[in-house]
Amino acid sequence: MAEGAFIRDVASFEGREVEIRGWVYNSRSSGRIHFLILRDGTGFMQAVAVQGQLPDRAFQAAGFAPQEAAVVARGLVRADRRAPGGYELELRDLEVLQGSPGYPLTLKEHGVEFLMDHRHLWIRSPRQHALLRVRAELIAACRDFLDSDGFTLVDAPILTPAAAEGTTTLFEIRYFDRSAYLTQSGQLYNEAAAMAFGKVYCYGPTFRAEKSKTRRHLIEFWMIEPEMAYCDLEQCLEVEERMVSAVVARVVERRRPELAVLGRDVSKLEKIRPPFPRISYDEAVEMLQRAGHSIKWGDDFGAPDESYISQQFDLPVFVLRYPAACKAFYMQPDPARPEVVLGADLLAPEGYGEIIGGGQRIHDLELLQARIREHGLNEANYGWYLDLRRYGSVPHSGFGLGIERTLAWMAGLEHIREAIPFPRLLHRIYP
Ligand code: 4AD
Ligand code: MG
Repeated sequence: MAEGAFIRDVASFEGREVEIRGWVYNSRSSGRIHFLILRDGTGFMQAVAVQGQLPDRAFQAAGFAPQEAAVVARGLVRADRRAPGGYELELRDLEVLQGSPGYPLTLKEHGVEFLMDHRHLWIRSPRQHALLRVRAELIAACRDFLDSDGFTLVDAPILTPAAAEGTTTLFEIRYFDRSAYLTQSGQLYNEAAAMAFGKVYCYGPTFRAEKSKTRRHLIEFWMIEPEMAYCDLEQCLEVEERMVSAVVARVVERRRPELAVLGRDVSKLEKIRPPFPRISYDEAVEMLQRAGHSIKWGDDFGAPDESYISQQFDLPVFVLRYPAACKAFYMQPDPARPEVVLGADLLAPEGYGEIIGGGQRIHDLELLQARIREHGLNEANYGWYLDLRRYGSVPHSGFGLGIERTLAWMAGLEHIREAIPFPRLLHRIYP
């Protein structure tokens, strides 16, 4: 009896017979020998069917097994330096559970829209597979960093009564006999949790009805959001640079083969170590003006502006103290210069731009009430949030790291649509 094995573990089965349950990724034949590339979700491996070494029925099946046929393969694991992965399966039997006639994603090139229409199948391909493995590692690395740094996970709700990031990008839904909104950020609830637990984070999907069709905008994206009581902007940035550096190092260490499949130049990632450079919004505007960008003090940065700034550094760069007018209502004004806020964005290098937004929150009741009014928000919806400024309010800070933006940078993607298993874009909600 052959033992069941996963492709990722075959090295420990050298010289033994195993059973691999998977799919045919590709095949070729020289008549008397059929070569199959098998995949089982954990990896890819070459299997060889030599006439006479397996029953005739199985040999025939190997010769006809189409791409993506579901197969159970039994064979001997042999070390072979020429084989990708270093091991090969010498087939002793092959059972085809189901063929895959007319599989639409052939191994030739397809257009992006065609691939996106077949995203449910596309994720089987080596590149997408590698990418989603890097994504899983990135998420685990963020969570492990925070879990071992004294943060408590406190989940935030998805259905919310009010805006966290401004009213223009809210998704409104029916909530029985009233309306509600899909969350844009767990931050406001995180602030309540931080006053209960000190250091907290939430991780979940967030939704923005942004009518932008760019390389970096998703309608549904995932965000990890730490929040800390008794924490000012500078202390917050220190956590951000430590977390990003730790996460990059772990992904490079544990997902090197996947990054190689993606063609990522990891030497660029290996340079990512704290401290990260810090520039002010004012300096960033001057830098852009010198480079001929048509931006004036007070404007928010567009994607080309962020790209330009981030290309000037090998490390992620913090841009600090944006004008209050281009940021959310909860941002703490700089006491020395109230027209700017104690907030910062972190821009990833190589032109990727913003991956983190965050900063210090207003902890004073009256100031927060004034800001809520100035932003045209309904104070009645924020009663509980204002309570946090009535009962033991303290300076606190936090940030949100967008998983897909961060993955796009780490994996060297051209477009964010591949950074999530099933992207929701302005004109796409299928599959
Ligand atoms: O800068 P943002 O809007 O900040 C917040 O939501 C804060 N409440 C977070 C906090 O302080 N707890 O979003 C944070 C990050 C961005 O830096 C970006 O990485 C990502 O979320 N993001 C998007 N990712 C993909 N598609 C979009 N449309 C995104 N909008 C923001
Ligand atoms: Mg932002």
